[in-house]
Parts: sequence; C-alpha cells; structure tokens
Amino acid sequence: MSAHDPTGADRERIALLGTLAAGVAHEINNPLTYVMASLDQAIEEVTALVDAVPSLRPTLATMHEARDGAERAWLVARDVRMFSRREPGAVGPVDLRRVLDATVRLARHDVSARATLVQEYAGVPPVMGSEVGLGQVFLNLVMNAAQAIPPGDPKAHRICIRGREELGRVLVEVSDTGAGIPAEIMQRIFDPFFTTKPAGLGTGLGLSITHDIVNSLGGAIHVESEVGRGTTFTVSLAALPRSSVRTSRPPGRMGRVLVVDDDPLVAEAVRQALAAENDVAVAATGTEALSMVSDHGPFDAIFCDLMMPEMDGMRFYDEVSHVAGKVTEVIAFLSGGVDDKATEVFLARTGRPVLEKPFNPEGLREYVRERVRGPAG
Ligand SMILES: Nc1ncnc2c1ncn2[C@@H]1O[C@H](COP(=O)(O)OP(=O)(O)O)[C@@H](O)[C@H]1O
Ligand SMILES: [Mg+2]
Repeated sequence: MSAHDPTGADRERIALLGTLAAGVAHEINNPLTYVMASLDQAIEEVTALVDAVPSLRPTLATMHEARDGAERAWLVARDVRMFSRREPGAVGPVDLRRVLDATVRLARHDVSARATLVQEYAGVPPVMGSEVGLGQVFLNLVMNAAQAIPPGDPKAHRICIRGREELGRVLVEVSDTGAGIPAEIMQRIFDPFFTTKPAGLGTGLGLSITHDIVNSLGGAIHVESEVGRGTTFTVSLAALPRSSVRTSRPPGRMGRVLVVDDDPLVAEAVRQALAAENDVAVAATGTEALSMVSDHGPFDAIFCDLMMPEMDGMRFYDEVSHVAGKVTEVIAFLSGGVDDKATEVFLARTGRPVLEKPFNPEGLREYVRERVRGPAG
C-alpha cells in the first residue's frame, strides 16, 4: 500500500481487502480463544506440579511462550475485525476523563514496563462521541506510544496524556519520548496496513481506525514528531457544556450488576455505561461468575456474553439455574450476532433478551433501572 493518496480503484481494493481480512480474522479469533483457554488451563496444572517435579520447568516456559504467541495473534485478529466495524457505537455526551481512565487501566501493563505515565486531564470538558469509539482512539495512541519506547528503563521515558479546553474545542494530547517518526513516512502512518513493526506486532490499522473514528465525530487528529526525541498526537473535538454529562447519582438505590465477558474491552465498556448508577462487578469467565452469584448475589441484572471459551453463556445459564433458579430471570445476553441454530433454539426456549454489540449505553441503563425499580414501579 504505497500510495498515500489512493485512487478510487485503490480505495475499492482496500475496502475489499478489509472485508476479506475481517472474515478471516473472525474465523481465527474463535479457535484462538480456545487455544488460549486450554493453554491457561494446562499452565495452571503444570504450575501446580512444578515444585514437586522441577524438570517440568522448561515445559512451563515453553507453554508460556505458546500462550504469548496465541495472544498476539488474537490481538491482531481483533484489530482487523475492528477495522471492518468502522461505526464506533452509539453517540452521546461522553465524560472524557472516564474514557481516559479506562484507557490507562487497559494499557497500564504495556506502559509500565517502558515509561512513567503522566495523566493531566482532570479539568477536561465532555465531548460528543461514543465511549467505545473514543476508548479505541486513545488506546491505539497510548499503545503506539508504548511501542515506540524500548522496555526496560521506565524511569528514563515518559508517556503523557493531557487534556485541555481551547476556544470551544477539547484537545487531548498523547505524547511519548520514544523513537519518533521519520519525515519520509509521516505521510503514510494513517494509511490502512501501513506499519513499521515486525510481522505479528503491528497490523498497521490502529491509526487508520483512530483517524476514521475521530473524523466521524467531526474532530481532527494532528501529529508532531522528532526522531530520537518523541512524538505527540493531538486529538481535537468539539467541547460540550460541563452540565451535559450527569456526574451526580440519580435518586433511588444503586443497582447491583454483574457483567460476564471474557473480552476486557467489552466488559469495560458495559461497566462504564452502568457505573454511575450501579455497583458493577465483572467476571471474565462463567466459572468466576458462578462463584460471584453464590458469594455476592443477588444481582439486579446479569449481562452475560454468549460466546466465551471454557463455559459459554448458554452453559452459564444452565449451571446458574441449578444454583439459584430465580437468577436466570435477570440474565440478559450480550452478543456479536446470533447466527447458529443451537443458540436460536436456546434463546427461544429461555426467552431471555439479547443485546447486540455495539451496545447503546442508555439501553443498558434502562434495562437495569427497570429491574431495580421492580415491576410495581
Ligand atoms: N507514537 C509513535 N511513535 C513512533 N512511531 C509511531 C507512533 N505512532 C505511530 N507510529 C508509526 O505509525 C505506524 C502505524 O501505526 P498504526 O496505524 O497504529 O499501526 P501499528 O501500530 O500496527 O504499526 C507505526 O508502525 C509506526 O511506524
Ligand atoms: Mg498501533
């Protein structure tokens, strides 16, 4: 993809490639989640044995390598799928501080090995956007910043996330003290599939997706960089009045919600949508969710992913119905699209609602409110 001003034919080819790649990525993603779950299970079992049988140590190291490799492939496949799903979800007033806090939580592991993180965005006003889309934007920028810095000496490097208001715009800067971007590739960094990273580390889609999301919100993204000194990306969006996002809690008690999803990005998006009005617990597996239901229940609502490795949503439903039958009445399923017969039959049998990704945050909140208030109102 060398042209940085693609012709119509190029664009068509890029779009077609994107669609094909997304299909392949989707097919790869599911088996990979099983590979990772099985490896996790095996690692756990071998870890329990390794003190008694020290000769297993190299085997354990090999298994960790396999797990890392599978996770990398899984992340690449997810990037590719995101590329095909360009619409960033429901748009409304968004508290950027919450989006940036969540970004930091997700990226902390990659950042902390490389740089000291500086967060200066406490006073930033809200913007119009979607939490999921904006989360994707800033996660891409922060991950790129981290990847521009070699691991090993986090005291020597900084990644700063700064937010400020200027003439009715919100400017969020993500800057790093990493490698910088050479002038000769500057024109191409936003092109889909342009990457300077080794195969397996970069898809070249991050900035292309970021650019599209920011554009779709009427915003702009700028970059300044100096080789050897670092890079600053600035995202500019229209500011909204501070009163447009509600930070105080509405009257009535807090709801108690459990989110069950193996995908931390999805779980975080649901948590964010509900956190102002509810106590939200998150479980990454069906097994974890089962013990939360028996230890921390009852919940007013349980949002459960249909597709999860190890124990999927349907099995979770059946298992939890043995533990406490009434619990099933508060379950709603989360889905990226139901396309198999078994799931359709299951849903028809149980009559439980299915919420399609990407979610409408207000829809999630309303679902919980109805259950907290109770049928009598
Ligand atoms: N903060 C940064 N510092 C240095 N180079 C960067 C930075 N952000 C982006 N780049 C360059 O832009 C390219 C494209 O970025 P991106 O679209 O996110 O794809 P990827 O990260 O998968 O390579 C990167 O491969 C890298 O060369
Ligand atoms: Mg990237």
